[in-house]
Amino acid sequence: MELVHRISTVRERVRAWHREGLRVALVPTMGNLHRGHLSLVIAGLARADRLVASVFVNPLQFGPTEDFGRYPRTLERDCELLDEVGAQLLFAPAADEMYPGGVEQTAVVDVPGLAGLLEGQFRPGHFAGVATVVTKLLNIVAADVAVFGEKDFQQLSVIERLVADLCLPVEVVAAPTVRDPDGLALSSRNQYLSPEERSLAPRLYAALCTAREQLLAGERDWAGVESAGLRALAGAGFAADYFAVRRQSDLLPPAADDDSLVVLAAARLGTTRLIDNLRVRLSP
Ligand code: PAF
Repeated sequence: MELVHRISTVRERVRAWHREGLRVALVPTMGNLHRGHLSLVIAGLARADRLVASVFVNPLQFGPTEDFGRYPRTLERDCELLDEVGAQLLFAPAADEMYPGGVEQTAVVDVPGLAGLLEGQFRPGHFAGVATVVTKLLNIVAADVAVFGEKDFQQLSVIERLVADLCLPVEVVAAPTVRDPDGLALSSRNQYLSPEERSLAPRLYAALCTAREQLLAGERDWAGVESAGLRALAGAGFAADYFAVRRQSDLLPPAADDDSLVVLAAARLGTTRLIDNLRVRLSP
């Protein structure tokens, strides 16, 4: 696998592959790769002949009090893992390659509505940062397909919306969340958890599973399901930001006849903020 830092080099490599008639997949990441990321790479390789991964801890998507500074950076290990799993190219740009005029001056991509809900209420500006860097990466790599995890369901929705609205010529593929055996969704932020917090963390997934069971059993009082979820999280020692029953299409509160739902939650254990979600398909 080749490691490149320059936009011009990635473009040359992908152009050469396209000239050979090869299909190219992109997996954007912030590095510190785990099995969840590698499952995205495997999903990309199943749909393309060449796989480009990117590792870039994007300053634009972190708030001033968030963990940008301490976000784990493990490029050497990331290279080894990507090589083992069969990626051909890793694009790891420096911040001034991506934002030559600085993050303050960059043009940004705004996805109105969707970006202001849920995570957007607790992390203002986060999705403008994500939408901007993902648009840049899609334009830089010009891949035929790009893979994102369902773990960040709202992020996936924002990206699907921007790709459609801006007519970007790329197929977006959603890959299922990878979990530890006790249910905790894999995330780079899990490593911030103390052993005691780690033992409590699966209760987030358990609360989502309970909500899903209630909905599948016919419960249509969304607010009741949400407050039970919030109570379960508080009981397990979480400080919850939200526990919300939404419809998958636009993440707004469902109407009585909506059948494609998703339960999304964000909650802090100590200083670590975890998010997770579960899709629920109701039978008509
Ligand atoms: O999900 C992530 O790791 C990031 O938000 C992404 C999509 C790589 C953009 O920085």
